[in-house]
Amino acid sequence: MHIHRNEPLALFNTLRLNAKAAAFTAITSAQQLQAAWRWSQEQALPILPLGEGSNIVLAGDVEALMLKMELQGVHLLKSNDHQVELRVQAGENWHAFVDWSLQQGYCGLENLALIPGTVGAAPVQNIGAYGVEIAEYLRRVHVLELHSGVARTLQAHECAFGYRDSIFKAELRDRVVITAIDLVLNRHACPRVEYPALVEYFAGQEAGRIRARDVFDAVVRIRQSKLPDPAVTPNAGSFFKNPVVSPSAADALQQQHPALPVYAQPDGSCKLSAAWMIEFCGWKGRQTDGVAVHKDHALVLVNAGSDSGKALLDLAQAIAADVASQFDIALQIEPRVYGAR
Ligand code: FAD
Ligand code: EPU
Repeated sequence: MHIHRNEPLALFNTLRLNAKAAAFTAITSAQQLQAAWRWSQEQALPILPLGEGSNIVLAGDVEALMLKMELQGVHLLKSNDHQVELRVQAGENWHAFVDWSLQQGYCGLENLALIPGTVGAAPVQNIGAYGVEIAEYLRRVHVLELHSGVARTLQAHECAFGYRDSIFKAELRDRVVITAIDLVLNRHACPRVEYPALVEYFAGQEAGRIRARDVFDAVVRIRQSKLPDPAVTPNAGSFFKNPVVSPSAADALQQQHPALPVYAQPDGSCKLSAAWMIEFCGWKGRQTDGVAVHKDHALVLVNAGSDSGKALLDLAQAIAADVASQFDIALQIEPRVYGAR
């Protein structure tokens, strides 16, 4: 195991922000993870797990041992005529795994195609898109506990999954490294095409003829038509969560703004479109201090040449202040911010 000191992180985050990690190493085996944990104990440096850096904002240097999670491998745990259970190591690329699972004839994850990042980060914010969340397919999450250095397994029902939320953002925040996840996938396709953009995409097609691979292709095309590719335009996806409010609060807002998209949630609450509110406030496409609101999607902030995350956070604050004064809604930043003073 080689530990790098003062490692520059610009190439390890999709916003391409400049900051340094006090210490940095790649983890490709369980033994390396144990050795890194012991080293962090000796040095009294906290551990910070990193995947592909597609959901972090670096606002300053990080006083931690950053572990770039590169554990690889997919194993079949169980199989019957209807389902398979798979163990997937944390460092696998999420999209490549989804593509592979469909090639094997395992269905369920097609709506989550093209989400950047690693398998290990997926449970952290319960990745979701186009009407599906990973929680629906997760059985277990395997972790290394950072206070004890001991491996532990959490059952899915212990993970407190919610919209862009889990125990890994709450009680277990900064307390575990996720090493692998177990998923149950279906052998028979059951395409989920209720999300408005998918309804539009498949308009006129007989539902029974839509295959899981068709949904995967549709999601890839829809995403490519509106979300900037981080390899070309540095970004971290949605910068804010969609606000969730009571039905009466949603009604009151829709009376004033009939075009505001409101999505009823299974628990009776209502999700509002943050993108719509940000666009309404006139921010879409605006650029300031080397950072900008993307021209095709108002929820995505892009780094257009800034070195530090401070300009992005200033922009986010200005947008949130406008939305608060216009709609009385407090937007919450979605990616994890590090190094802010
Ligand atoms: P990182 O950014 O490296 O880490 C994110 C957080 O998870 C950090 O706090 C980190 O410490 C923690 N973490 C990472 N790995 C581990 C681990 N092994 N153990 C413990 N903690 C860990 N998200 C969605 O849900 N839906 C979308 O549709 C979506 N679209 C996106 C589109 C674009 C263009 C971009 C850039 C991002 C998008 N995202 C989306 C956000 C992002 O893809 C997900 O949050 C993804 O899971 C992040 O993976 P990562 O490996 O890059 O995590
Ligand atoms: N809209 C606007 N202006 C815009 C963009 C969108 O008004 O610039 C409105 C439109 O009415 C559109 C609606 O917002 O129909 C919803 O847009 P979209 O389908 O793009 O979804 P979103 O709510 O903006 C969420 C997730 C995305 C995820 C998509 C698809 C959050 C914070 N974001 O975006 O996740 O891919 O749904 O399910 O929940 C991410 O987390 O990084 C991310 C990209």
